This record gives sequence, structure tokens and C-alpha cells, in this order.
Amino acid sequence: MISGIRGTHDILPGDVERWQLVERIARSLCDRYGYVEVRTPIIEKEELFAKGTGEATDIVQKEMYSFTDKGGERITLRPEATPSLVRAYVEHSLEHALPFAKIFTMGPMFRYERPQKGRQRQFHQFDVEVFGISDPAIDAEVIDLAWSLVSELGIAQAELVINSVGCAACRPKFNEALLAALGEDLPKLCEDCQRRAKLNPLRIYDCKVPADQPIIDRLPHAIDYLCEPCKTHFDGVRAHLDAFGIPWKISHRLVRGLDYYTRTTFEVLGQTLGAQNAILGGGRYDGLVKQLGGPDRVGIGFAAGIERLVLALPEGVKEPKPARVFVVALGETTRGEALKLLRELRAAGIAAEMEFEARSLKAQLKRADRVEAAIALIVGGDELARGEVTLRDMRKSEQRAVPRASVLETVRDSL
Ligand code: HAM
Repeated sequence: MISGIRGTHDILPGDVERWQLVERIARSLCDRYGYVEVRTPIIEKEELFAKGTGEATDIVQKEMYSFTDKGGERITLRPEATPSLVRAYVEHSLEHALPFAKIFTMGPMFRYERPQKGRQRQFHQFDVEVFGISDPAIDAEVIDLAWSLVSELGIAQAELVINSVGCAACRPKFNEALLAALGEDLPKLCEDCQRRAKLNPLRIYDCKVPADQPIIDRLPHAIDYLCEPCKTHFDGVRAHLDAFGIPWKISHRLVRGLDYYTRTTFEVLGQTLGAQNAILGGGRYDGLVKQLGGPDRVGIGFAAGIERLVLALPEGVKEPKPARVFVVALGETTRGEALKLLRELRAAGIAAEMEFEARSLKAQLKRADRVEAAIALIVGGDELARGEVTLRDMRKSEQRAVPRASVLETVRDSL
């Protein structure tokens, strides 16, 4: 047997209904909030992520699935959706095509990480992005959408953490302050942090090495170095969240592991997920569109890990299936009629199933139970001759004869 690849998962019946529920609610929220769907390819040029996600990030340094294709081009399986959506926005001038550049996408992402609970190498994101709006009200709308997703899915004990990482004007001062505060301690930090200190000192906050933590805990906080416009913006975001009644906490360590963030960053943490506790994360990226060759448009968005949403769902919660009918053929001679009825039901929009091998009535009703059919329609020779079929209510175990000619209406009324 050839097994699946480490860090990837098959999503099987029993679990897939939980995915369907998450996907339906995510789509419904996007409809209600005015976000339209965009689907981009899974493969992109490697440079899109090197430039977009950022050279200093762990994703680009260690986790990308990249290869050279037969034409000699460097290709990457997308590790996140944001750079692809920015590319599509720029490439198709979506700022003109759409009334508001508010978009979403869902699909698989790929990161070569160490697999564990809530962390896969192929995982799935529901991703939301907005381009061209700088008012803090849009930050609050995006956070509100994220928070509503978690609430409507019934995920209890979720926690919203926010921070501001400043902009191109105030970041250099913060980076300077970080390096100054590190001082003599810098050589004591891990190798990754040494690299981060050179490329983007803010990234030091991503470090998970236990020995480094006491030093990192003493470092200055980004929100103490915000310039006036960034401070006013962050105050605005918090005021909107308060007005919406969405509870938030500041997390000074929330600089997020991607290089493009400016100003607002946020995550929703789940209490039941263990070490990989971020259900979703996002923030503002005001320089990214321009950096990727587009117009000077700001951006904000978030992505939720669908695996993590599914893990955090209350037990037993799943997408309900439509009530179904099971057609039972009594004897070989009625099979043709039974198959015709099966097809009529399906064409009329009713979910219907049938046994394909000749079996006893008892065996067929047992199968009807297994598919959780609400109704069985029993097609027998004598009944057919009278222009009738037998309708059996599977829940009540009651049955009655109904005219064949009006069976679709009767079924519809009884489901
Ligand atoms: P991220 O924090 O790297 O942000 O990923 C967002 C979410 O994807 C995480 O909170 C987590 O739920 C899920 N996730 C990430 N890696 C894995 C993994 N290996 N296994 C399972 N789930 C995972 C981004 O990707 C940004 N593009 C979000 C964003 C959109 N920022 C602005 N717009």
C-alpha cells in the first residue's frame, strides 16, 4: 500500500460534514459583509512569496515547497494566500473591476513544518482581504467578520488579541530600540534571532526557543513607539471594537510571523487547541500592494485555519444532510419501475437512494436505516398493478398506500 504523505490528511465522511459547515458559514458571512470570492492557482512564482511573505520569515527561510519546473522556472506551492490575492488584484486591476475590493478565498496551503495536532504540511485557509481602505472602521469590520465566524460556529472560550506594529515611519525607531535593549544579550540569543536582528529585528518576537524567552520578555513594546497617525489609528480600531462589544486584549508579542504587517495585527486564540492555538490571524499590510508592483493601496485581512476551526467546533456539530428517500424494489419485475421512480425523485430535487443488488425486503429496509432515510417507497408488483406504491415512514415504522401518480407531491409533503 502507498500511504499519504506525512503532514497531509484525507478528510473522510463523518469529518467532512464538519468542514462543510465551516465552509458554508464562512461563505454566508462573506455574502453578508460584501466580500466576493476570488480563486487563484496553488502554484506561483517563488519570488512572489520571497518578496511578499518576506525573506526574513521562517516561511520563506525554511518552509516553502519550491521546485524548478521543466521550463527552468522556480515555482512554489503557496504557503499562504495573501501574496497571491495581491498579485491577482494588481494583475487584473480589480480596484476598477470591483465596487469595493473586498475579497475572500478558501483552499489548501503548503508549509514544510513539523506536523503535530493542528499543524499540517498541507492545510486549508479561509482568507479575507480588503484593498484600498485605510479608515480604522475597516480594520474593525475585518476583525468583526473573524469574530462572527468563531461565534457563529459556536466555538467557546475564544480570545481576541490585538497589537499595532507601526508603519515605515515609526518602525525604524522601534527596531533601534529593540537592538539597543538587546545590547550585550544579542549574542546569547539563538542563531535564528541573530539572523532576525540583521534582517528585521521585530521578527525576534517570533522566537519560540525557551532559553531566549526571558531576554525577549524584557524587550520594548511596539505600541510605545507608534507615531501619531499610527497611534490615532490604533485608538480608532479599539474604539470601534468596544462599540461592537467585541472583547479584546493587547498582546505585545503579537508581531505575526510575516514581514508585510503594518499597524493593526490580531489573532483569535482557541483554548482547546493545545500548542497550535491560533485559530486565525491577520493584520494590515499598507505597503505590500506597491511592493508587489501595484498601485499605492493599503490592505488588511486575515486567514483562518480550517483544520483548526474544525478542531475547535463543539463535539457532534456538523452540516445537516437533507432528508432522504430509499426506494425498495420487491422482486425482479419491479426493478425497472423502482429505478424510474428513483430518477424522478432525484430530478424533483429529492435526495434518494436504492439498493443495486436484488435483496430481501428486510435487507433493503436495513440499508434504508443505515442511510438514515426518512421515507422508504416500496414498489411491489400488486401495488403497481393497482397504480400505487407503499410509503413507509422510517421513524414511526408506519406505512400506507399512496397513488403512484402523485407520489412525488406526497413525499415532498411528508419529508
Ligand atoms: P498565518 O498566521 O501564517 O497568516 O496563518 C493563518 C492561520 O492559518 C493560522 O492562524 C492557522 O490557523 C492556520 N495555519 C497556518 N499554518 C498552519 C499549519 N501548518 N497547519 C494548520 N494550520 C495552519 C497568514 O497566512 C496570513 N496570510 C493571514 C493574513 C491575511 N494576513 C493578512 N491577510
